[in-house]
Order: sequence, then structure tokens, then C-alpha cells
Amino acid sequence: MADSPGHVQALLDALAWQVEFGADEAIGEVPVDRFAESAAADAAPSRAAASAFAAAPRGRAAATGAAPDARPGQDQRGPEAPAEAASARDLAAAATTLEELAEAMRGFEGSPLKMGARNFVFADGLPGARVMVIGEAPGAEEDRIGKPFVGRAGQLLDRMLAAIGLARTAPAPEDAAYIANILPWRPPGNRTPSDAEALLFLPFIERHVELAQPDFILALGNTATRALLGATAGIKRLRGRWVRHEPTGLPLLPSFHPAYLLRQPADKRLAWRDLLSLRAALDGAGPEV
Ligand code: URA
Repeated sequence: MADSPGHVQALLDALAWQVEFGADEAIGEVPVDRFAESAAADAAPSRAAASAFAAAPRGRAAATGAAPDARPGQDQRGPEAPAEAASARDLAAAATTLEELAEAMRGFEGSPLKMGARNFVFADGLPGARVMVIGEAPGAEEDRIGKPFVGRAGQLLDRMLAAIGLARTAPAPEDAAYIANILPWRPPGNRTPSDAEALLFLPFIERHVELAQPDFILALGNTATRALLGATAGIKRLRGRWVRHEPTGLPLLPSFHPAYLLRQPADKRLAWRDLLSLRAALDGAGPEV
């Protein structure tokens, strides 16, 4: 029987496993009949095990790890969704102020992430600050509050910035930071955004940089760095070296994501080097890019 105690226990075990890996909300675009899946599993147990594995969202713990794999329920659309991509490009290009850009992004219907998120998360800090920090996507706290980097990783980011004399609350552009993400909507279960999702939202963050007019970009983690640079290498290879961001031409420094540093404190040493390099650039020792 599909709903026998054994099947129910198996479903509960699968759920517990997903929670352990970071799932904290039950969100799907279409209803899924798990009992029907269990019945099918009787006929093909190994396939069912594979699908349970594939359906498990990755936690934030994997945010700076290897490139995302294709998985059911994850937005894997790329070139096969040209209408959404063109709409994102047009909306971004038409925005002439940060307010217009925020409204355009809020209204953009090209990604199902919007349906699963509570709040639109645009930016925090001082527009026009010399440093623009770009992260990955809102997490649970950011989604709840509507501001980027307000959870544990955000608190670490604030401490990192303070260590080189910057604060998102500072009133003067030279002491302030302006903070945004590649995605303005939280991916369900805090999973790592797919490359296709990052690519879809890329025109918005590029326009965001143009309108915010920083002198330097600090890209945090794999998702931001790869999306902004069109790179395929990982952050461990890319961090610490200044590169020119196109299309803005601004100097961009990739560094570790604070969520990664919370899990790998030994790498704070390298992140500190990056921060000192940013400080030196701010102080006029211009990076060579
Ligand atoms: N991680 C990010 O990349 N961005 C946030 O806003 C919060 C956590």
C-alpha cells in the first residue's frame, strides 16, 4: 500500500534529510503526489532513491562549492528562455534611477523565484558609496526583513567591512558600503541559485552597478563572482586578484562569501588579505586590472 506505515516513515525520513540539508519551507510550483511516487518506487526502487536525492535542496553550506547541478524543481532555463532574458535586459536598460530599477525588478515576472519569496530584497547601504558589495541571494532572514545581508553572514560582513573602516550605515561615500545581491528573491530552502537564474538576473545587477556608481566592486562567493565575470573557475582560484568588470569597466575584487567563512574560519586569513587589498585601493594604491 502506498500509505502503509513503512511508506509514511520513509517519507518522514526523506523530509528529515532535506531539513538537515537546509530545506526550511515546502514550496513547489505544482503539487506533487508523494504517495504516487512511493507507489512507483515499489516497482523501481533505485530510480525512486535517485529522485529523492535529486530533489533534496542544497543548503547554503554549498553556496561556495562546485557549480550547481541540474535538478528537478530548479530553474535551469538558459538560452531556451529568451523572452524572459530579453525582458530582463529591456527592463534593466530602461531604468534611469535606482528607484526605477527597483520597481522594474520587483515587477519582473520572468522567474518563478518571485512566487516562493516573501520579500523583494534590493539593496542596503549608501547608493554612491565607493564600494559596492555584491552577494548571491537573500537567505531566510533577508527574505523576512527585505534587506540584504542581515543574517549571520551579514553580521560577519559588517565586521569585515568595519575592519577596513567601512559601514553600510556611514553617511559619507568614502566610509560607506552599498550592498546588493545577484538575485533579489530568495531561492527556496536557501539553495544555491542555478547558473541560469544568475544569468537571467545579470542585466539587473549590471544596471544596478551602473546606477550606484561605486569606484570598486567586492564580489562575494562563487555565484556573484562567476555571474559578474562570466567565469567558470571557482572562488578559491579567483579570489584576491583584481579584475576589470565588464560592462562597467570598474575594478572588481572577488573574495570569499561570509557564509563560507563562517564554516571555514581558517580562510578568514585569506579574506583579510583581500580586505586589505580593497583598503589599499580605496587609499589610492590603485589596483592594476
Ligand atoms: N547571502 C547573500 O549572498 N546575500 C544575502 O543577502 C544574505 C546572505
